[in-house]
Amino acid sequence: MKVVAFNGSARLDGNTAILLTTVLAELNREGIQTELVQLAREHLQGCGACFRCFKQKDERCSVDTDPVNDYIAKMAAADGILLGSPVYFADITANMKALIERCGMVARANGDLYQRKVGAGVVAVRRGGAIHAFNSLNHFFTIGQMLIVGSSYWNIGIGREPGAVASDEEGLRTMRRLGENMAWALKKLTA
Ligand SMILES: Cc1cc2nc3c(=O)[nH]c(=O)nc-3n(C[C@H](O)[C@H](O)[C@H](O)COP(=O)(O)O)c2cc1C
Repeated sequence: MKVVAFNGSARLDGNTAILLTTVLAELNREGIQTELVQLAREHLQGCGACFRCFKQKDERCSVDTDPVNDYIAKMAAADGILLGSPVYFADITANMKALIERCGMVARANGDLYQRKVGAGVVAVRRGGAIHAFNSLNHFFTIGQMLIVGSSYWNIGIGREPGAVASDEEGLRTMRRLGENMAWALKKLTA
């Protein structure tokens, strides 16, 4: 079993990365393979509304100038998908939105590629907009017929400077429980 996590932050190894790796560590402890993909050095473009994916139905986006086709394949091959974003202007980052638009549209064009996979969103926030960003991530899972896993609180970690979420004990506890719940769900679904 494998879970792939995407970090939409413009910062490599920042707060969102800490939250995601905390979830992934629990999954590893449960014997589940994981991969973290960080978008920090990418400039992903959004969906161009060409709808070629609906004509070609080859599980690919017609834009081949960035790694989104690799990301679509990683999502399709995984049993679980984690999407993590810091809050930018009370919502997800532009890179995360582009990832959702293009992976989401190609999935729809190909009979819902990620149907019944397990998914969860994770958000790093300084102060405001976390729930809005969390909801934005969850839209990807719900329209894609995926099964969202929850935790003991909404999946939020609080901090501003890189590394600050490591002091948010409740945030980290929420991530650990999310990892446990995701592992539980994956094992039940594949039993
Ligand atoms: C462009 C930009 C916009 C931001 N907007 C918000 C915001 O609306 N609300 C908030 O609480 N924090 C905001 N922040 C702060 C980040 O969400 C916060 O520092 C977060 O921990 C960064 O996570 P990272 O280290 O994974 O990038 C913003 C940061 C940037 C760079």
